[in-house]
Amino acid sequence: VSRGIEAGIRHYCKNTPTKLRVSQALSGAELGSNIKVQGWVRSVRAQKANVFLHVNDGSSLQSLQVVASSELSDPLLTFGSAVEVTGILKKSPHQKQPVELDAKQINVVGECNPVDFPFKIKERHGLEYIRQFPHLRCRTNAFSSLLRIRSEATAAIHSYFKDNGFVEINTPIITSNDCEGAGELFQVEPSGPDYADGENFFSVPAYLTVSGQLHLEVVSGAFSKVYTFGPTFRAENSQSRRHLAEFYMVEAEISFTQSLEDLTKVMEDMFRFATEHVLAHCVEDVDLFHKHVTPGHRDTVDAMIKNSFPVITYREAIDILRRSSERFAFPTDWGCDLKTEHEKYLVKHCGNIPVFVTDYPYDLKPFYARDNQDHPERTAAAVDLLVPGVGELCGGSLREERLNLLSARLEEAGLEDVYSWYLDLRRFGSVPHGGFGLGFERYLQCILGVDNIKDVVPFPRFSHSCLL
Ligand code: 4AD
Repeated sequence: VSRGIEAGIRHYCKNTPTKLRVSQALSGAELGSNIKVQGWVRSVRAQKANVFLHVNDGSSLQSLQVVASSELSDPLLTFGSAVEVTGILKKSPHQKQPVELDAKQINVVGECNPVDFPFKIKERHGLEYIRQFPHLRCRTNAFSSLLRIRSEATAAIHSYFKDNGFVEINTPIITSNDCEGAGELFQVEPSGPDYADGENFFSVPAYLTVSGQLHLEVVSGAFSKVYTFGPTFRAENSQSRRHLAEFYMVEAEISFTQSLEDLTKVMEDMFRFATEHVLAHCVEDVDLFHKHVTPGHRDTVDAMIKNSFPVITYREAIDILRRSSERFAFPTDWGCDLKTEHEKYLVKHCGNIPVFVTDYPYDLKPFYARDNQDHPERTAAAVDLLVPGVGELCGGSLREERLNLLSARLEEAGLEDVYSWYLDLRRFGSVPHGGFGLGFERYLQCILGVDNIKDVVPFPRFSHSCLL
């Protein structure tokens, strides 16, 4: 009896197809086996007694070629339809791809009318065109590549921090503070039958976070090296190519710092580590961008990795801008905020590689920035990292750890009560410390050469637009 059961199991196993992702099938795993893949048709072509399909399931830029006898063909088997294909994985006779699936069965799981579908077979659609279809654009090669790169870059950043002794902290999304003091906040209010309009759920005004920095400072006071990587919200009324209302920020906070160099080193190392990781792990996806979407950008990326990032002070930056023959739309006097046009000029001036600008005028920076008391011009120990094509990628500073200076500044701003807990951090075991935030979407723009920030985020939110 048991031999009979064993034989039955063997027979069942032999005939039950192994479910594979397209990337696994393409790697040649299970060659000669009965397999099943599930995905969406990227091309369909009938030739003599056969029909040829390309099936993609998002696991790879490449699609799996399926060869089926025309008897298996179905009028519903169109570009964009969802299918389940079972068959034997074989070595392909064609050079272009290593394997193909000899189909024994094809099920059309979901139809797709190619006339109404906004993307056309074998056509390369521009990023601006596909942006009109946020619910469908992940079916295109460019956007699916972008999402895989985004996922890999996220993993690389986490791994950089883990490898370097940082502890990840989940800072809150709902908060009662405006860390940057810029007033660009989305207020959070309850809604529903239990709440009257304007009812205050938290008993204090609450907002979506603009930065996890202050919470990271709390924890860095016990853990020394911490980071967070999460969504951040800014009610900036901007339609620019580098601003979103919801974006992801990577923020790090480090205790026992000696100088700004302790921060610039981490920023530069993290940038290089993540970029090298993405180039090594997303070869085909990155190539698609660098060869077809943003041709020529690869040289810029290589230069960014090879060269160490120059450091200039804000004073030097102003002098460079004032000496240039360029006509800027915005003023370049001491005390003026650097605008995108200035940042891009400075990057070009420094050889089209990332450049750190340090020691900004004290009044340009938020209350937490450390006063450079030894400087003749009143400056703060703050640093921005400017990068090709984008401008500002990171903003950071040493934090004012001296109780008397911090409380004077908060008092001046009328904020000493709101931030009494923050002052406590300076009362109980205060240490020199600092940190920075990197805009993750701007990072992706920078390494891929993508002009518009809306093209590097799955579901962009910006003023007058919250689709889906
Ligand atoms: O310079 P920011 O405002 O710095 C902070 O929020 C600090 N509290 C961070 C810290 O020290 N922990 O923002 C940091 C970065 C910017 O350099 C930029 O790359 C990105 O966040 N950023 C935006 N990205 C997309 N859309 C927006 N509206 C952005 N605002 C800032």
